[in-house]
Amino acid sequence: LNTVMYAQKKTDISTISEKTLSSILEKNRTYYTQGKVADYIPELGKMDAKAIAFSVVGKNGRVLNVGDVHKKFTMQSISKIIALMIAVNEKGEANVFDKMGYFGTDKPFNYFSNLETTGKPLNPMMNAGAILTTSLISGEGEKPFLKILDMVRYITKDQTIGYNTSVYESEKSTGHRNRGMFYLMKNNGLISGNEDQLDNYFKQCSIELTAEDLAKIGYFFANECVRFDGDAQYKNVELAKLVESQMLIAGMYEFSGEYARTVGLPSKSGVGGGITVSVPGKMGIGVFSPALDQHGNSSAGYHMILDLVKQYDLSLF
Ligand code: DON
Repeated sequence: LNTVMYAQKKTDISTISEKTLSSILEKNRTYYTQGKVADYIPELGKMDAKAIAFSVVGKNGRVLNVGDVHKKFTMQSISKIIALMIAVNEKGEANVFDKMGYFGTDKPFNYFSNLETTGKPLNPMMNAGAILTTSLISGEGEKPFLKILDMVRYITKDQTIGYNTSVYESEKSTGHRNRGMFYLMKNNGLISGNEDQLDNYFKQCSIELTAEDLAKIGYFFANECVRFDGDAQYKNVELAKLVESQMLIAGMYEFSGEYARTVGLPSKSGVGGGITVSVPGKMGIGVFSPALDQHGNSSAGYHMILDLVKQYDLSLF
């Protein structure tokens, strides 16, 4: 009987409360000391390493938030899943993936030497693929970026979301490696536009939001592109499966395989310290803690996710 009761309690996600999240957060708070705030973009290095937040968005729009709930940070690479959604909506999956692969990776996010050999980015989650994805979104100048921003505002239902111009300027003036990939892809005939397209990538990385917003994004892809409040104007089962599969195999870069073993859920990290997680059909999780591990993923964030997943048996496997 005890076993049965325990099994029921474990999987009933409606029992997750702010108290649950709070005890997990406190248990993992000090993991920031094992990581390092990203400083390869000078402006990112100014983040408070001790800031931490943990959010869950479940069915019927139930929102749970603990920690520094109002703290905003830049979404960075998490914007890549939004760009992928828009590019595929506009161009179709076959056209987008004619130009890049569906490959998993053992390489860090800014790897691109395969552009010299196979010619195409490995996947849309690493920088090369993401820069290409954004260049496939139609519109002149900053229009493609504005579409990404509007989609983030729609999914989070927050029209006040904007982007951090200091982080953007800082990325633009130091992102020579990204500029290198951009021109190599232009040389390979994958990109036809000018550097405005690269600027759109820098801008999308600089969009500022909270852990709750990330949980809402996680919820959206976990639920067939239906928003947390039930709005279904973008409902698309296949698109959600595509985005979730890319998150699963490459969303945590070279750590994705080990992450699939330990967490087992589609997730996307950003060097701003955020991670968004989709629990298919159930809920979204958003975490924030800016100190990163050696793979560029939030250190405390990963451990908070891991504990919640273990406690409620959330892994897909
Ligand atoms: O391209 C860059 O360098 C960053 N703006 C985004 C990279 C990122 O978030 C990689 N992630 N963990």
